[in-house]
Amino acid sequence: MIFTVAIDGPAAAGKGTIGRAIAREFGFAHLDTGLLYRAVGVKGGDPVVAARSLSEADLARGDLRTLAAGQAASRVAVLPEVRAALVAYQRTFARREGGAVVDGRDIGTVICPEAEVKLFVTASAEVRAHRRWLEVGGDEAKVLAEVRERDERDRNRAASPMVAAIDAVTFDTSDMTIADAVERACALVRGRMEDM
Ligand code: DC
Repeated sequence: MIFTVAIDGPAAAGKGTIGRAIAREFGFAHLDTGLLYRAVGVKGGDPVVAARSLSEADLARGDLRTLAAGQAASRVAVLPEVRAALVAYQRTFARREGGAVVDGRDIGTVICPEAEVKLFVTASAEVRAHRRWLEVGGDEAKVLAEVRERDERDRNRAASPMVAAIDAVTFDTSDMTIADAVERACALVRGRMEDM
């Protein structure tokens, strides 16, 4: 069975948590595409060369989840050649046999417009920054400034900007518990599977 759940939205909105829960519930594979851009961003050197030669070791680095890696990822993600180098891997993953959940910024719009379920998961910048701050610590105002800077760049870039697909279901998780968001998302997937 080929079945893709595309999850897009800004940093720390809950895409990963919801994506992993859907993958677990339905036995689908899960790909966090932000990690690809983070690995390119922290590798250094020419980002286009880095994107074309990404290895398992690059994706296994321990520093990919830091704020600095997020910023570096957002900067290299504006480059069309970097994005192009990562398309085939993401598309193949999304359409693999057995089902896949893929999360990022452009999955429902560019990588897999034919996805069976599309979610756009968002939350206010303040709520997202607070969640990120609970993970990384430090100065919360600085975390909020970084979240805003990254949102701005990811939304306004010319190449595959972050935007909800017209057929995506939007979840604002600002006032939702994780359990509620996961339950709603799983209900959508189940409903779509029953229709097929
Ligand atoms: O999801 P994340 O915070 O790990 O993503 C890091 C950055 O990578 C994000 O700010 C923009 C970029 N990105 C992208 O442009 N397209 C994707 N599909 C995933 C991430």
